[in-house]
Amino acid sequence: MSYENILVATENNITTITINRPTKLNALNKATIAELHQAFKEAEADTATRVVVLTGSGEKAFVAGADISEFANFSVEEGAQLAQQGQELLFDFVENLKTPVIAAVNGFALGGGLELAMSCHFRVASENAKMGLPEVSLGVIPGYGGTQRLPQLVGKGKAMEMIMTAGMLNADEAKQYGLVNYVVAQAELLEFCNSIAQKIIKNSPVAISKAIKAINANFKDGVNGYETEIKAFGYCFGTEDFKEGTTAFLEKRKAEFSGK
Ligand code: COA
Repeated sequence: MSYENILVATENNITTITINRPTKLNALNKATIAELHQAFKEAEADTATRVVVLTGSGEKAFVAGADISEFANFSVEEGAQLAQQGQELLFDFVENLKTPVIAAVNGFALGGGLELAMSCHFRVASENAKMGLPEVSLGVIPGYGGTQRLPQLVGKGKAMEMIMTAGMLNADEAKQYGLVNYVVAQAELLEFCNSIAQKIIKNSPVAISKAIKAINANFKDGVNGYETEIKAFGYCFGTEDFKEGTTAFLEKRKAEFSGK
């Protein structure tokens, strides 16, 4: 499928999705959100895709936020609808994707941009990256899950401070607070993410998808994460991947997982 606002390329079982509106610092307008939804949906359905890496085009920004020009005149109802639709279509969708998603944060990740990076399963930043939720400086609050996911990652006090001050963390600070796992030179960012992806690809896709579900359950209201884990653990025993993984271990050979 061809897209106007994003680029999608699959190589060595890694699908790289690049948000491609560099003149607008890759700001998320409605069309981009719809295209991202479609691309993630296709990547999840594609058995050749074992990991997705999400990044922004250009050297300046991952995503500089939701597209402010699109919502500046919205009513109360339109504002609530914007947040709800965006969360369903993109942010919750990515968080719950069965395929692992790594955010390669290659510059500014602000507002909806940081919210998108936080929806990914984990993050790697380039040295020039700057991350923050500056919405209160616009008279609004984060609406794509930022008030929920930022405290999960950096703790409540730091999240409160970041959101209240509309301040930005540089890459090293983001690593210090657990918002990103690694900081690397910009030129090495994608290669570094691909090297982590290669380690993931060696493992069972079914088991990984169940692990994502169980870990996410810890952060869902009204869901008992331990029960989710027990069910997911049991499920694995009925998969070809489990038979292959345990048999390969006992036969002292490398497992070849089918993902079934
Ligand atoms: N929505 C819409 N357009 C945006 C945008 C956003 N969130 N962020 C950047 N842009 C656009 C700018 O309007 C500008 O477009 P123009 O050239 O047509 O005027 C272009 O991207 C370049 O941005 P600019 O502000 O000129 O770059 P800069 O280097 O001076 O500043 C930032 C970079 C990231 C500090 C600044 O763009 C910014 O503060 N952006 C908004 C961040 C924000 O509040 N995000 C949360 C939104 S909820």
